Amino acid sequence: MNYPKINSLKTLDAFQSRLDELEIQIPLDAAMQSGDAAPLAQSCDWNGGTIGNRFAILPMEGWDGTTDGRPTDLTRRRWKNFGLSGAKLIWGGEAVAVRHDGRANPNQLVINSDNLAEIEALRTLLVDTHREHFGTADDLLVGLQLTHSGRFARPNDKKQLEPRVAYRHSVLDAKFGVDSDAAILSDDDLDRLVDDFVAASKLAQQAGYAFVDVKHCHGYLGHELLSGYDRPGKYGGSFENRTRFLRSIVDGIRSEAAGLQIGTRISIFDFIPFEPGPEGLGRPSRTGEYRSAFGGDGTGVGYDLTEPSQLMQLLEELGIQLVCSTVGSPYYCPHIQRPAIFPPSDGYAPPEDPLVGVARQINATAMLKRAHPNLLFVGSGYTYLQDWLPNVGQAVVQQGLADFIGLGRMVLSYPELPADVIAGRTMPRKKICRTFSECTTGPRNGMISGCFPLDPFYKAMPERQQIMALKQQTKA
Ligand SMILES: Cc1cc2nc3c(=O)[nH]c(=O)nc-3n(C[C@H](O)[C@H](O)[C@H](O)COP(=O)(O)O)c2cc1C
Ligand code: SF4
Repeated sequence: MNYPKINSLKTLDAFQSRLDELEIQIPLDAAMQSGDAAPLAQSCDWNGGTIGNRFAILPMEGWDGTTDGRPTDLTRRRWKNFGLSGAKLIWGGEAVAVRHDGRANPNQLVINSDNLAEIEALRTLLVDTHREHFGTADDLLVGLQLTHSGRFARPNDKKQLEPRVAYRHSVLDAKFGVDSDAAILSDDDLDRLVDDFVAASKLAQQAGYAFVDVKHCHGYLGHELLSGYDRPGKYGGSFENRTRFLRSIVDGIRSEAAGLQIGTRISIFDFIPFEPGPEGLGRPSRTGEYRSAFGGDGTGVGYDLTEPSQLMQLLEELGIQLVCSTVGSPYYCPHIQRPAIFPPSDGYAPPEDPLVGVARQINATAMLKRAHPNLLFVGSGYTYLQDWLPNVGQAVVQQGLADFIGLGRMVLSYPELPADVIAGRTMPRKKICRTFSECTTGPRNGMISGCFPLDPFYKAMPERQQIMALKQQTKA
């Protein structure tokens, strides 16, 4: 399927016509504003202080820590770039495992007392860099994303899944190596894991992080528990039970790390796993009723925000104000999670114009924001908009559809985008992420992540050649 590339939609009218042709709504401002009065430059009050503007950096790991979970120079370079981006909200930096068996790869960061000084130094590096470039870091909010990778854990060997799951899954078990109930975490296991999240949060507080993100997205354990409709016991079945994990962690943090703020990144809806069909085009792995999608409408390819809205209500009751919305999972429905024109090597060709995926995330987030105006929402999935990202971001914030524009892949290729947009500088075209997916293809093949096509630093690495060769193989 060939969809018009974004850089071929050179005028606002051409872009809007494409949206009309697709019959989708994406808010779009014709004129960008810059300087202190610009909508994206406005500060935002929250219950812990002030966040200096409306750009947020989304968490992105680089598969480049040491095997004992410490950052390397590559990790530090990425965090430094986050600091010089100009964004005033750093949502979590990257996924950091609360314990060894929860690592998504043997190079994922781990937070424990041995590694704490280095996890703290990452924050300091980011904050110092930000202060040097922008004069102050008083209005910069930095959190740490805490995770257990659950079904996608590969703690010891990049090629060896060691899944720990919430429940047996009709499609994912076969795909991700679960062949017995031994992979299921018992209620006792989950009780202990709650303690590990609380202990990790205490450490994050000691390391100076203002908040922790208790990760509930992308098919990892926290997210999977939300769809444990058929799981027996106290962590499954009813909404109350499926949110017990989150509530218990929050209770623990409140009593053991008082003063630490809490946020959560949530896949606000999910789809059935997709697979490559004829000519590699993505298609649902089966048809018929699908029960395992939190926020799904039962078809596997649609959403119903009734339960996600109930979850937002719960967050309000728990005193959590910061929410980062995302959708689906990069492992089984990447086209909805990180819309891209080119699939990663283990993916499938996009079954819809990626703009449809962008619109879906913006509109679902807006619905939740409308229903829960007191929560502060960071939206995700904007990178595919490319040259039009600022115009859409400004309109989204201006219309109150989200509070912050979260940036993922775009800051890997073009870290300075927030500062440039706010200052009214022209965006250099050669830095704009074109969603080539090489930052996902790398780790899917046991390599580090980075923007190999556009960032000169990664472009010069031997991994770039390996990825090019892989792409050729995929095409052949
Ligand atoms: C290389 C890479 C690493 C990522 N790592 C994480 C992560 O550690 N935690 C997380 O919640 N999301 C992670 N994501 C997802 C992004 O935060 C974001 O949701 C996604 O890229 C869509 O936003 P975008 O369109 O701006 O790229 C990662 C994405 C990429 C490309
Ligand atoms: S590799 Fe670079 S251009 Fe490709 S999707 Fe990632 S950030 Fe964008």
